[in-house]
Amino acid sequence: MNSNIWIVDFGSQYTQLITRVSREIGYSSYILTVEEAKERISNKEIPRCLILSGGPQSVFEDKEDYSVFFNLEVPILGICYGLQLIAQFYGGEVEKGLKGEYGKSQVKFLGEGHGFQAWMSHSDHVKTVPESFEVFLKSENDLIAGIRHDVKPIVGIQFHPEVSHTENGQDFLEKFFKEVAQLEKDWNESEIADQCYDILNVAKDDYILCAFSGGVDSLVAATLANKVNHKKLYCFFVDHGLLRPQDIHHINLLQRETNLNIEVIDAQNEFLSKMKGVSDPEQKRKIIGNTFIDVFEKKVHEFEDQKGIKFKYLLQGTLYPDVIESISPHKKGGKSVTIKSHHNVGGLPEKMKLELLEPLKYLFKDEVRLIGQYEGLRPEWVFRHPFPGPGIGVRVLGECTPERIKAVQESDQILFEELKKHEQYDRIWQAFTVCIPQKTVGVKGDGRAYEEIIAVRLVNSRDGMTATWSEVPYSFLDDVGTRITNEVSGITRVVYDITSKPPGTIEWE
Ligand code: XMP
Repeated sequence: MNSNIWIVDFGSQYTQLITRVSREIGYSSYILTVEEAKERISNKEIPRCLILSGGPQSVFEDKEDYSVFFNLEVPILGICYGLQLIAQFYGGEVEKGLKGEYGKSQVKFLGEGHGFQAWMSHSDHVKTVPESFEVFLKSENDLIAGIRHDVKPIVGIQFHPEVSHTENGQDFLEKFFKEVAQLEKDWNESEIADQCYDILNVAKDDYILCAFSGGVDSLVAATLANKVNHKKLYCFFVDHGLLRPQDIHHINLLQRETNLNIEVIDAQNEFLSKMKGVSDPEQKRKIIGNTFIDVFEKKVHEFEDQKGIKFKYLLQGTLYPDVIESISPHKKGGKSVTIKSHHNVGGLPEKMKLELLEPLKYLFKDEVRLIGQYEGLRPEWVFRHPFPGPGIGVRVLGECTPERIKAVQESDQILFEELKKHEQYDRIWQAFTVCIPQKTVGVKGDGRAYEEIIAVRLVNSRDGMTATWSEVPYSFLDDVGTRITNEVSGITRVVYDITSKPPGTIEWE
C-alpha cells in the first residue's frame, strides 16, 4: 500500500466511489481511516498522493490536527470537507453554512465562461482563499467551488467528482492525477493479480481449506490459490438440498473442467430434517448457518484424519466493500438493526482454529470478474448471477416443504432458460423465483385449481446494496408465466415483483 494513492476517509457516503472511479481510470487507491493514515506516516510510509474525502462534520467542531498530511509534501486533492480542511490549514476562512448546497449545481470555471453540472453536498463553505491559492471554480450561488495552490500540487473542490451526477467527474479526477499530481497509471490486471498472489504467498506451503460455493468470489479466490499451492488446496462444497439444478450442474462442470480439488458434501437430509416445521425467516437462516458449520467441520475433520493432514488456512472470497464497511468511521458506533443475518462461513475460522486467507480483500466485484477472466476462467462462470448461501431456504416463504423446494427449483430453471433464450441473462444482475405459500383459485384444463404462487424477481444493481427492479420485454414475462403455470405442479399463478431496494430487499426473506 506504500506509494499508492491513499483516500483518507472523513466519513463521506461517497468515499468508496472515489476508490472505484480512481481504479477504473487506472490508478491504484486504498481507503484509510484518519488514524490508520497517521499511523502509517509515523511508520515512515509515504503515499504518492492523498485524497481527503468529504465528511459529515464541520471544521468548526473538528479540533484534530491534520498537519502530518500537509507536511508530507505529496499531491493532495481535497473533496468537499477535504477542501475546507485545506483552506483552514493554509490560513483561509471557512464560513458556517446556513443554507448549503445539495444535489445538482452548475459550476463555472473562472474567466473561462464555460462550466458543468456537479454534485454538491455541503453546508459550510470556503469564504476566503488562503494566501498562495487561487479560486478556479465557482458554484451557481457564487460560492467558491474549487481552489488550487500557485506552485504546489494541491487542489480542493467543493463538489463530488466521484458521483455519476457530476458531468465528466471521471475526467476531472484523471486530469488531476495526470497533470497536477503527475502520476503514472498503475492499476491493471497483472498488478491486481500480483497483489492477490502477494497475499496468498504466506500459505504456499500449508494446507488450505476453502468453503466453496461455485460463485464468482470463491471460484476466483480458489483459482488464484490453486496457482500458488495446488497440492494442498481443497475446496469443500456443501449440498444442503436448497440448490437449483444449475448449481449442481455448475459444480460438476467445475470438477471436470478445472484442476481444483473439489469435494462435494451431500448433507441434504440433515438440513431438510432440521428445517421441518420451521417457518420464521431468521430462525431458518440460523438453522441453515449452524448446520452448515456443523456439517462442514465434521466432514473436514474426517478428511484430515483420513489423509493425515491439518489445514492451517481458511480461504475466503471477502471483497473490499465488506472490509471498508467494517472500518468506515461513520459506521462505527452507529446504531444498526439486523435486517437479515447473512449466512456465509462467518464463525468458521474461530471454531476450527484456522487463519483467514483473503486474496480478494482489496477488490471490488468488477475487479474480481476481471481477474477471473485474466486467469482463464470462462466468462459465463465469472458473470454468473449471485446466489445466496441459504439458497432456496430463503426463497420458499415460510416452511420449506419438499414440494415447495421442487416448485422453486423447477420455476427457477424455466426462468434461467427463458432469460438465456430471450437474451436477457446478461442484462440482469440477479434473477430468481420465490414460492409464496398462499393458495389462489385458477382454472387448469377444465377444472378448478386451488394452488400456490410463484413470484419472479429480476433486479439490476452494482453491488447488491441498492437495486432496481428490471424492465424486461412483455414477451419474455409471458413465456415465463405460461411455462411455469403449465410445467410446475402446485402453481396456478405467477406474479412479477416491482419493488426496488430500498425499501424492499432483494431476497424476500
Ligand atoms: P438482500 O436480500 O439483503 O440481498 O437485499 C443482497 C444480496 O445479498 C444476497 N444475500 C445473501 N448472500 N448469504 C449470502 O451469501 C446470505 O445469507 C444472503 N442473503 C442475501 C442476495 O442474494 C443479494 O445478492
